[in-house]
Amino acid sequence: MNVTISSSTLPKTGALVLIAVEGGKLLPTAQSVDDAMQGGLARAIKAAEFKGKVGQVLDIAAPEGLSINRLLVMGLGAAKSLKPAGLETAAGRMVSRLNGARLKAASFAGDPIQGSGIADGDIAAHLAFGAQLAAYRFDAYRTKQKPDQKPTLTRVSVMTRAQARAKKAWDALSAVAQGVYLARDLVNEPPNVLYPESFAKRCKALTSKGLKVEVLGEKQMEKLGMGSLLGVGQGSVRESQLVVMRWDGGAAKSKPVAFVGKGVTFDTGGISLKPGAGMEDMKGDMGGAAAVTGTMLALAARKAKVNAVGVIGLVENMPDAGAQRPGDIVTSMSGQTIEIQNTDAEGRLVLADALWYTQDRFKPRFMIDLATLTGAILVALGEEHAGLFSDNDKLADQILEAGKTSGETLWRLPMGPGYDKLIKSKFADMRNIGGRFAGSITAAQFLGHYTNGVPWAHLDIAGTAWQSGKKPTSPSWGTGWGVRLLDRLVADNFEK
Ligand code: BES
Ligand code: MN
Ligand code: ZN
Repeated sequence: MNVTISSSTLPKTGALVLIAVEGGKLLPTAQSVDDAMQGGLARAIKAAEFKGKVGQVLDIAAPEGLSINRLLVMGLGAAKSLKPAGLETAAGRMVSRLNGARLKAASFAGDPIQGSGIADGDIAAHLAFGAQLAAYRFDAYRTKQKPDQKPTLTRVSVMTRAQARAKKAWDALSAVAQGVYLARDLVNEPPNVLYPESFAKRCKALTSKGLKVEVLGEKQMEKLGMGSLLGVGQGSVRESQLVVMRWDGGAAKSKPVAFVGKGVTFDTGGISLKPGAGMEDMKGDMGGAAAVTGTMLALAARKAKVNAVGVIGLVENMPDAGAQRPGDIVTSMSGQTIEIQNTDAEGRLVLADALWYTQDRFKPRFMIDLATLTGAILVALGEEHAGLFSDNDKLADQILEAGKTSGETLWRLPMGPGYDKLIKSKFADMRNIGGRFAGSITAAQFLGHYTNGVPWAHLDIAGTAWQSGKKPTSPSWGTGWGVRLLDRLVADNFEK
């Protein structure tokens, strides 16, 4: 779907979508439409008891006095409680509705909203963003879709009087949308198509967007001593890969920010095999790597003024004759040894080497890792919040704040040396599982031994990388969760 910013001239065809706030007067575009309809809009609003509440929609076909074929007014609630995310959700809902009505083109009126605290042009940009996110589809493998099952809406323009500001804001947000689309695609792809090497290839293709991309294979990782990551992939016929993506948009000597992703392209559990029911979801166990890749694309596409590195560990966790066993002891790149007690606790093994490598090579300002790490985080937080763990309060607060603004929210959980007792091993420096309790925390605590003191945060996204239902701006199974969050974090704190 093509989304553009345009002037506020009323359209002559297609659908026109107006916005309205609760308890407010008609906004400027609605006022001029009402004039053209000789008071017909105000009468319809009254007759339908349309109050402008969040989610409320007034829908008029073939409005008298206008040549368009559909007029819709969407409620945004009270102006003072309106947030960018509210605009995005409303635009997203509208996109489904327009598709349902088989409409091909729509113009949204991005009027200024007094008392909302959101700048005029930004209103238009966030409507555009919500519409774009809602239009995502993953239909590559459906060969039997009938025309009436396909979306019809191909063009959305958002009208505004603040075109310059809106265009600038939309340029940046459309870059973020590209990143979200990529992350969703990667999560949705089946595991026979997306495996470590094919994932790495997709990263390589991002060179055309201005990223520097390096791919390390097993030989190179062996040389680096990455016994922890390599152990996970050794039961698979697919070669493990480590991908390093760099965006140099900041000052030449400024330290980069670093994002590290768990990229288990399929997690069978290995020899500690998972039960069969629902195992297909484990194609999404590379959601952390997808978010990192999508973020790097977003930063490059909007030419962010920051130096950033994205490092993703790509492996397939399979149980063949070469697979690692419970009881194996591996040596990580850091030199610390790990007793494998459960081959299904593989994500932390991948991240241990990816984190160590990242701090060792790049000396970043901070590292944030994203991983679909534990089922326990779903038990604790469901699909509403991702788990946040950090050894740095300032970084943690910045992440929580970016979560609120982007709508990708997190909840912080504790860490501390007390939890180290739970990952002690009789034979090695540590083991890769805790006990029955605090499963997400012991996983985070494990990772904390591989950061070498660099400010660090771990985001457990096992509950947010994919979803059981759908949301207005997130219509597919893979959510692309994390791209909007990390982009906001960088934009609000680490540019300039
Ligand atoms: N990829 C899983 C975690 C997961 C579970 C993600 C459900 C999304 C939904 C991870 O590799 C895993 O298997 N973790 C184990 C750890 C346990 C063996 C300590 C888990 O959560 O059960
Ligand atoms: Mn696992
Ligand atoms: Zn896993």
